[in-house]
Amino acid sequence: MKKEDLDRIRAEVQGDFFYYESVGSTNAEALKYANAEDKSLFLTQNQTAGRGRMGRSWENSCGGVYMTVLLKPEGISENISSLTLASGLAAARVIPNSTIKWPNDIILGDKKVAGILAETRVSGKNAVIAVGIGINVNNPEFSGDLAEKATSMYLYSGETQDITEIVIRFYTEFLKIYEDFKKSGFSKIKKEYEEKCVTLNREIVVLIGGKERIMTVKGINEKGELIAIADGKTEIINFGEVSVRGLLGYA
Ligand code: BTN
Repeated sequence: MKKEDLDRIRAEVQGDFFYYESVGSTNAEALKYANAEDKSLFLTQNQTAGRGRMGRSWENSCGGVYMTVLLKPEGISENISSLTLASGLAAARVIPNSTIKWPNDIILGDKKVAGILAETRVSGKNAVIAVGIGINVNNPEFSGDLAEKATSMYLYSGETQDITEIVIRFYTEFLKIYEDFKKSGFSKIKKEYEEKCVTLNREIVVLIGGKERIMTVKGINEKGELIAIADGKTEIINFGEVSVRGLLGYA
């Protein structure tokens, strides 16, 4: 990134700002520098060992941006797990026309444009949370398996995007939501999240412990968990342990 772009970003960052020409994983860096300021930002456009949800990897692809916000809330709140939904909402606000596939895949059309991985380390009475997001911004194409599942803001809109602006807007929007979230947890953003969530009222395939089950989603509870019905029984689906996909197409 150019110096003036980095300066523009640095001016908005409330904690420390770490920029890498290339790095293994911005989440790993954030956890390594856990003594950095609250709300520090770790940023790169070239990630060589990106981590995804469910132990998967997150592929590096030209035109993408990879960043992690380090959060150091006081105490360990039970809201931590639904914080990942808050970051999904921030991304959806920043990526025009996007929707959210629960818990936090960001979708454009019916392909994934961004993914979020929050990793938490608890030390004593406090938690350190690395909220990482990869956004496909100006990627001109995807190869192999990804071609069917992934898109970029550029591919969707036909217009080259200002990556610096996307970084600043995600960071600022996320911290706004985070402040609300600290006060009132998921409930404050639940309505907006539900409006953007394509998983609601759909039949989904849930992968739990290697087994696939078909369920119908009825809603989201105050903790951000899915309320689903399977075989006439209501079940609560918690993130972390499950992978969800629609019956038709990716989303
Ligand atoms: C997913 O599986 O959908 C989540 C992908 C999260 C990728 C981001 S890129 C920045 C940060 N650093 C990582 O190693 N992973 C996250």
